[in-house]
Amino acid sequence: MAEYTLKLRRYDPQAGDAPYYEEFQVDLEPHRSVLEAILKVKAEQDGSVGIRCSCRAAICGSCGVRINGRPGLACHTHLDKAAKTGVNADGKTILVEPMGNMPVIKDLIVDMDAVHWKKIQRVTPWLINKQPVPEREYIVPHENMVDVTQTMACIQCGACVSDCLSMEVDPLFVGPAASAKAYRFVGDPRDAEQYERLKDLAEDPHGIYDCTHCFTCIDACPKGVAPMSQIMRLRRIAGNDHHIVDRNNGERHERAFVSLIRDYGLLHEAELLPRSYGGDSWFGKFHPAAGQQLLESLPVLARGLATGKFTVKKAMLGHRIPKADLKAVKAIYEKVEGKDRRYELNLYISGYEDDDEAAPAEAVPAAVGAGDGMPSAPGPDPNRPTAASESESA
Ligand code: SF4
Ligand code: SF4
Ligand code: FES
Repeated sequence: MAEYTLKLRRYDPQAGDAPYYEEFQVDLEPHRSVLEAILKVKAEQDGSVGIRCSCRAAICGSCGVRINGRPGLACHTHLDKAAKTGVNADGKTILVEPMGNMPVIKDLIVDMDAVHWKKIQRVTPWLINKQPVPEREYIVPHENMVDVTQTMACIQCGACVSDCLSMEVDPLFVGPAASAKAYRFVGDPRDAEQYERLKDLAEDPHGIYDCTHCFTCIDACPKGVAPMSQIMRLRRIAGNDHHIVDRNNGERHERAFVSLIRDYGLLHEAELLPRSYGGDSWFGKFHPAAGQQLLESLPVLARGLATGKFTVKKAMLGHRIPKADLKAVKAIYEKVEGKDRRYELNLYISGYEDDDEAAPAEAVPAAVGAGDGMPSAPGPDPNRPTAASESESA
C-alpha cells in the first residue's frame, strides 16, 4: 500500500460556482489505476465526484481525463507512474482534470456529444459501397486491411481531441479523431467515394489542411492510432493521387515546402509564401495573389527585420548548404520521384505470423499502392514479422 494525494478539478456548471481544486488522500497499491483511486474517493469520501467509466480495461474509451496535464485513460494509468510525473515534487500528488476542447458537464465528465461525436458524424463514418454488390462477400486484400486496421483501433476516447492545438484555435477544425475515422473509409478499397471524401475534407477551411502537424495527438492516443499520420496520408492521397488543389491553398503550400527543400536543401521562408500563393517557382512572387499576401504580411516582415530574425540578404538569397549536401538532397528527390508510383507504408500491425519457424527480424511494413486504394506492391512477407509504428510514405 502507498498513500497518494488526488487533486481533482471540481466544477458543476449548474451550481453557478467557479471551478476549484480539491485534494483527497487515498491508500492503494501502486499498480492500481488512477480510475480505481477516483472510484475509491467516490465510494468512501465524496459520492458527488463526477467521473465517467465503464470497462475499466482501456477498451470502452469512456474514462478519458487529463492526468498531470496530459490526456489519457484513467483506467490505463498506474498510480505509481502518474505520481512520478505529478505536479508536486512530493512523488505522491496526482492532478486529475477533465479533457480539454470540450465543455465540462460535471467535474471530470466532458460533453463528448457537443464536440467529438459531432465531428465524427461530419466525416460520414460508414462505408459507401461500390456497385455492383458482389453475390458473396467483398474480398479485401490483406495489405488494405493492415492499412486501415490502425484507424479501426480507435476507441473514441477523445484524448487526441482534448489536446489538439489547432482545435484550440479553431473549434470548427474537424480534428484528429474524425480525420482518423475519415481515413478508415478513404483507405478501404470497398468504398466508392474516396475522391468525394477527400475533396470535401480538402476544400473545407476547417478540414485536413487545418492541422498544424504538431504531433500532440500521436502522443495522446492510448491506442497507437496516430491521427496526425492519418491526416498526412489523407493529404498525400488528395494532393498526389487525386490532384485536388483546394481553395485553402493547403496543397500549394505543401508543394512549396517540397520544392524549396529541393531547390535550397533548407526551407527558404521568404519564398514560402509567394510560392504557396503564386506558383511553384521563384517567379511566384510576381503573381497578384502572392503580392496581396505579401502586402498583408508587411507588418510581420517589418517586425522580423527589426528584431534581427532575418536580414534583407537572407530574405533575398535564402539559406545555403554545402554543394555536396544539396546534391545529396536532390538525389533523394530523384530517387523518390523516379518511382513509377507512390507507396503508402503502414507499419502499425505488430507480432509474427503463425509460422513457428519465422525468426524475429526487422520490421516489414504493409505497402499499399496509392492512388486507387488498391494494392500494387507486394504485401508483407508472411515469414517475417510486421511491427508497430506509424504510417509513412515513400
Ligand atoms: S497534429 Fe494536427 S490534428 Fe494532431 S493535435 Fe496537432 S494540430 Fe491537432
Ligand atoms: S484516435 Fe486515439 S486518442 Fe483519438 S479518440 Fe481514437 S483512441 Fe482516442
Ligand atoms: S473505463 Fe473503459 S477505457 Fe477506461
